[in-house]
Amino acid sequence: MKRVVSFIIVLSFLVSSFGLAQNKFVGAKTCAPCHKTGKQGKQDSIWVKSKHAGAYKTLTTETAQKIAKEKGLKKAANESPECLECHVTAPKGDAKLLDKGYNKAEGISCESCHGAGSAYKTMAIMKDAKKAVEAGLTEFKDEKAIEAYCVTCHNEKSPTYIEFKFKEAWAQIAHPLPKK
Ligand code: HEC
Ligand code: HEC
Ligand code: HEC
Ligand code: HEC
Repeated sequence: MKRVVSFIIVLSFLVSSFGLAQNKFVGAKTCAPCHKTGKQGKQDSIWVKSKHAGAYKTLTTETAQKIAKEKGLKKAANESPECLECHVTAPKGDAKLLDKGYNKAEGISCESCHGAGSAYKTMAIMKDAKKAVEAGLTEFKDEKAIEAYCVTCHNEKSPTYIEFKFKEAWAQIAHPLPKK
C-alpha cells in the first residue's frame, strides 16, 4: 500500500512538473499594469508596501550578515542558499533558478505564491480563472491551504522566527479583488 501511494505521488509530481516545466518567472512588473488600479484592487501597491517586497534587501543588512556569520555560513547572507530559500521568489532550494529568470531583488513577489506566470499572464487567459489555473496559476483550495503555504517559510527554521498567527498575518497582506 505504501509503495502504491508513493508511486502515485511520484507520478503526479512528474505530470505536474512536465506540464509546467516551461513556465518562467516574469516578475511583479509584468503583473503590475493590470493589478495596480483601484478597479482591480491595487494588489501591486499592497504588495510593494509589504515586507515581502523587501525580503531580499533584508538579507543585505548588517543584522543579516551577523546571523549568517553566527551560523557559520561561508558566503554572505544574500548569497547563501540557506537564507535565499525563504527570502526570494523561487521554488524551494532550486539553486539553478536562483540566478536566472527573474530579479532576486523583488524578494517574495507575486509569483512566489501564485506560480510562475509566463503562460497565464495574458488577458485572454487571466480573465478565465479555470484557464489560468491550467496555465500554472496556483489554486488555493481554502484558508487551510493558504496557511499551509505560508508556514513553508514562517516556521522555526527562520533564524528570527516569531510565532506565526495566520489570521493576523493574512489580514496584513490580503489583496482581494473588489466585490462585483
Ligand atoms: C493583461 C492583464 C493582466 C496581467 C499582465 C496579469 N493579470 Fe492577473 N488578472 C487579470 C484579470 C483581468 C483578472 C480577472 C479579474 C476578475 O475576475 O475580476 C486577473 C485575475 C488574477 C487572479 C485571480 C484569479 C482568480 O482566482 O480568479 C490572480 C491570483 C492573478 N490575476 C495574479 C496575477 C499575477 C501573479 C500576474 C503576474 C505574473 C498577473 N495576474 C498578470 C489581468 C492580468
Ligand atoms: C517564500 C517564503 C514566504 C512565504 C511563502 C510567505 N512569507 Fe511572509 N515573509 C517571508 C519573509 C522572508 C518575511 C520577512 C521579510 C523581511 O522582513 O524582510 C515575511 C514577512 C511577512 C509579514 C510581515 C511580518 C512582520 O511582522 O514584519 C507578514 C504579515 C507575512 N509575511 C505574511 C505572510 C502570509 C499571510 C503568508 C501566506 C499567505 C506568507 N507570509 C507567506 C517569507 C514568506
Ligand atoms: C505571500 C503570498 C502572496 C503574494 C506575495 C501575493 N499574493 Fe496574491 N494572493 C495570495 C493568496 C493566498 C490569495 C488568496 C487566494 C484565494 O482567495 O484563493 C491571493 C489572491 C490574489 C488575487 C485574487 C483576489 C480575489 O479576491 O480573488 C489576485 C488578483 C492576486 N492575489 C494578485 C497578486 C499580485 C498581482 C501580486 C503581486 C503584486 C500578489 N498577488 C502577491 C497570496 C499572495
Ligand atoms: C524557513 C524560512 C527562512 C529561512 C531559511 C531564513 N529566513 Fe529570514 N525570515 C523568514 C521569515 C518568515 C521572516 C519574518 C519574521 C520571522 O522570522 O518570523 C524572516 C525575517 C528575517 C529578518 C528580519 C528580522 C526582523 O526582525 O526584521 C532577517 C534579518 C532575516 N530573516 C535574516 C535571515 C538570514 C541571515 C537567513 C540565513 C541564515 C535567513 N533569514 C533564513 C524566513 C526565513
